[in-house]
Amino acid sequence: MAILITGGAGFIGSHTCVEMLNAGREIVVIDNFANSSPKVYDRVRKITGKDFPTVECDIRDEAGLDRVFASYKIDAVIHFAGLKAVGESVAKPVEYYDNNVGGTLTLLKSMRKANVKTIVFSSSATVYGSENPVPFKEDMKTGGTTNPYGTTKYMIEIILQDLCKADPAWSVSLLRYFNPIGAHESGLIGEAPNGIPNNLMPYIAQVAVGKREKLSVFGNDYGTPDGTGVRDYIHVVDLAKGHLFACDRALKVKGCEIFNLGTGNGVSVLELVHAFEEANGIKIPYVIAPRRPGDIDFSYADVTRANTVLGWKAERTPVDACRDTWNWQKNNPNGFDD
Ligand code: NAD
Ligand code: WQD
Repeated sequence: MAILITGGAGFIGSHTCVEMLNAGREIVVIDNFANSSPKVYDRVRKITGKDFPTVECDIRDEAGLDRVFASYKIDAVIHFAGLKAVGESVAKPVEYYDNNVGGTLTLLKSMRKANVKTIVFSSSATVYGSENPVPFKEDMKTGGTTNPYGTTKYMIEIILQDLCKADPAWSVSLLRYFNPIGAHESGLIGEAPNGIPNNLMPYIAQVAVGKREKLSVFGNDYGTPDGTGVRDYIHVVDLAKGHLFACDRALKVKGCEIFNLGTGNGVSVLELVHAFEEANGIKIPYVIAPRRPGDIDFSYADVTRANTVLGWKAERTPVDACRDTWNWQKNNPNGFDD
């Protein structure tokens, strides 16, 4: 009786491993380390005091997946494995569709053979596109994604919805994450991007630790209160806990359900910079730069459904996330290479 976690060595996956183990669940973790380090596993063991099996496996390797399902009694899959860099997806669309969509199809075939028909999928607020008004609600029209990464999430959502229509034995939970930030309060696991960070919080953290000179704020002429982009930043530990609730529910309720996982609050780029400064007593130098193509002004969630149906609510603040990010970053300036 175990939950298979794909991509469990990654940022959100590793924090979810911790929450699953702390809640007494058995887990089996697979990853191909395309964007992570096997060193994460010992950190998870250290935080939880618990051991768990891991297998180096690519989700596009059907025979490898079949061996995993044959070796362990799996009840459900939490599926994080995927490539996630928006800019890279524009340059390498074939790799992104192959890895994310192709990999998910291979996983679903292997699950079907093993008669494991419960899956929790890492989707993204990006599926709401640029036309919907905030706050984003689960029943809004999706699509209109502006990059191949976002389109892979949209396509996988459609595939999983079609699967539930075709076979009522499946349970699918589509979790639309907003902007995950923060780190485990132990400072042992956190986000460790390769190269120049694409996302705001790891960029701020690298400025704070002296790896980057200053932050470029992409646009201050949006129709937002201070002109900078507004997002729904959710602490990764809250997000990880959301998977526990979603997985428990998916094991009970058949069919496809969609949940936004966010805080419901919008925070601007400059507000997040100031929260980091306030939480850690460090000045973050920044310059105003041109808008980044593809960015929208506002993105934040309506979290009513997750609050009421899952009984889950984000509890941590952006200031908590800034403190925990800094605790992780200052102790591990080179991520898991330290
Ligand atoms: P991450 O890159 O840290 O984790 C993804 C993990 O999947 C990595 O450990 C990587 O090595 C692994 N992986 C990639 N391709 C694989 C393959 N073919 N086979 C096996 N393992 C593979 O990213 P994350 O931030 O933890 O994101 C986890 C999931 O959540 C992803 O699907 C991502 O698209 C989604 N998501 C992330 C965000 C975000 O901002 N971080 C927002 C919305 C959705
Ligand atoms: C946040 C805000 C930027 C960097 C992305 C993906 C999305 C999802 C989450 C996976 C925006 C501004 C950023 C910088 C800045 N990922 N910014 N300077 O774009 O909301 O979402 O990650 O599913 O699909 O698109 O997150 O952290 O990149 O940007 O001013 O150096 O910070 O313009 O307003 P985004 P982000």
